Amino acid sequence: MSRSNVIVLFAGNSEPSFVFPTAIATSSSSGSKPSGARPSVPNKPGGLSNSSLVSKRGIDDLDFYIGNEAYANSKTYQVDQPIRHGIVENWDLMERFWEQCIFKYLRAEPEENYFMLTEPPLNPPENREATAEIMFESFNIKGLYIAVQAVLALAASWTSNKVTDRTLTGTVIDSGDGVTHVIPVAEGYVIGSAIKHIPLAGRDITYFVQQLLRERGESVNIPAEDSRRVAEKIKEDYSYVCQDIVREFRRFDEDPYKYFERYEGEHSVTGRRYSVDVGYERFLAPEIFFNPEIVSSDFLTPLPEVVDQVIQQSPIDVRRGLYKNIVLSGGSTMFQHFGQRLKKDLNAIVSQRIAASEAASGNLARSSGLEVNVISHRMQRYAVWYGGSLLGSLPDFHSFCYDKKDYEEHGPSIVRKFSVLGGM
Ligand SMILES: Nc1ncnc2c1ncn2[C@@H]1O[C@H](COP(=O)(O)OP(=O)(O)OP(=O)(O)O)[C@@H](O)[C@H]1O
Ligand SMILES: [Mg+2]
Repeated sequence: MSRSNVIVLFAGNSEPSFVFPTAIATSSSSGSKPSGARPSVPNKPGGLSNSSLVSKRGIDDLDFYIGNEAYANSKTYQVDQPIRHGIVENWDLMERFWEQCIFKYLRAEPEENYFMLTEPPLNPPENREATAEIMFESFNIKGLYIAVQAVLALAASWTSNKVTDRTLTGTVIDSGDGVTHVIPVAEGYVIGSAIKHIPLAGRDITYFVQQLLRERGESVNIPAEDSRRVAEKIKEDYSYVCQDIVREFRRFDEDPYKYFERYEGEHSVTGRRYSVDVGYERFLAPEIFFNPEIVSSDFLTPLPEVVDQVIQQSPIDVRRGLYKNIVLSGGSTMFQHFGQRLKKDLNAIVSQRIAASEAASGNLARSSGLEVNVISHRMQRYAVWYGGSLLGSLPDFHSFCYDKKDYEEHGPSIVRKFSVLGGM
């Protein structure tokens, strides 16, 4: 099950109004186009006439659920995910998903609202056009802005009191459930060629906790059907990143009881109560970011090294800015002291390189040093959402959008390029 969430909001709010998975449940009678089907993008501007969804599809087609409600109906409906790995794959289902987001959840009049949607870096431009086509032609929205998620995550970090200049240059570490991305951004534009993905994220940490609990014999207390959920909860509530794994283990061995926490659970069906001792998994589990060999035999590069590689592969004139503003985003960056450890290990890598190059040049060219900063902040969990809320409530937001008239005049290809919102 993909855990990718869609977050629906009104600009300026401080919390998302709704957070739910991008799942949709349809009854087999209402059917859907085969996966991958995409609306044809009209060649002529305004190629399709406006048509309301109901008249286009008939009343049967209102019989579907999205988000958690989709999973709740999975016994009698077919559940699909229109988005895979962040990219829309089934446009017909996506359109219906948006339909309920707008009408059932937000209860918004599309004709009266400007919409901000987000996309992953390297989203194919055709997908932007298909998005615009649905938004303008099926929903008749007033205006549209499509933002890249990493850029919004950078804007979200402005809320930190450590940030003094509101820059859109920085390196975004986005770690969710399935994947971790490291994305360099210069003045609001993603440096696509230098992006790297790490195949380790929240789900792997959950599995690892589950495995450690089993090895320590704690899992006998946990009902088998709750095992995954309990491991996730223990991970979220008790785990932290230590600054030095060898030292932390030594301290733990000296006085394990000081480290133990107790998780109290209740059987999801019978209501039976049970408790679980939480031990060294507290710091060992998130350590896989920094020592991936603990769980992985094919991906072995520690996160701080990946960050360094990404910055070194970016153009030389932006590297300083990328080291200086490393911004965290997503649920799996929430571990306590995560940013501190990343900064420490990255500083070690950078100092080593500087020392080596100084030694090679016989100390002739002393480096002026390099500032490494990792920004943690209180909106990290939903950083992309928060950045969108922030930029969407700028007084001139609508002037960055394309409106229905622009769309009709120039056709869908107009959305291939937007001006940077919030740039200096
Ligand atoms: N306080 C926390 N500490 C550690 N992990 C957390 C915390 N809160 C949530 N998580 C983890 O964050 C992950 C979800 O994060 P997020 O919502 O950013 O992922 P996603 O965007 O749905 O997934 P992906 O980006 O991989 O598609 C889950 O693995 C969850 O267990
Ligand atoms: Mg994500």
